Amino acid sequence: MWLVRSAVVAATCAALFAQSPKYGVGRTPTPEEIAATDISVLPDGTGLPEGHGTAADGREVYARRCARCHGPKGEGGDEPKQSPLVGGRGSLKTPKPLKTVGSYWPYAPTVWDYVNRAMPLDRPGTLTHNQVYSVVAFILSMNGIIEEHEVLDAKALARIKMPNRDGFVPDARPDVGKKR
Ligand code: HEC
Repeated sequence: MWLVRSAVVAATCAALFAQSPKYGVGRTPTPEEIAATDISVLPDGTGLPEGHGTAADGREVYARRCARCHGPKGEGGDEPKQSPLVGGRGSLKTPKPLKTVGSYWPYAPTVWDYVNRAMPLDRPGTLTHNQVYSVVAFILSMNGIIEEHEVLDAKALARIKMPNRDGFVPDARPDVGKKR
């Protein structure tokens, strides 16, 4: 059975990679399509694109595109329980840690990167850069990290010190991290 499955998987992979014109499968992406996904944002903000937004702008984006799953105030959806984005500050050391953008994420630029890349879950890649800046501003302001009218752009995002910035420690095991 295992062999059969492997053969099927191998055949499927071969078909995927071949992209043969014979079958008319696939096409070369346009430079614009590559540029749209070729974004890597580092924790220090390197790679953040141009654009800006405020929490006030982000309120509407959030209500339309995010609240359905994350709750109107970022408290998390109902069933099935979706990621809460707000709250949980000071809970990480308790028996009931609540990991959210406010309590857990160490860097703001990577929140931007994640939202830009992966959200909304059912339609990732459909937000403009300004919408991502503003909806991230809204999430940060719901967490009390920035003010509602503060303009968030690449520089401002990189300057934010997230509450849990110093909560991560290097792995102390001697055999970990040597290859990096
Ligand atoms: C269809 C449901 C859905 C929608 C709509 C949606 N999300 Fe999510 N979101 C999720 C789920 C599920 C996860 C957890 C994904 C995982 O852990 O792999 C998540 C995770 C996240 C996280 C990471 C949370 C954490 O602490 O790990 C952020 C930030 C986020 N979403 C922001 C947004 C924003 C901003 C929008 C609107 C633009 C949005 N989401 C729309 C379902 C959704």
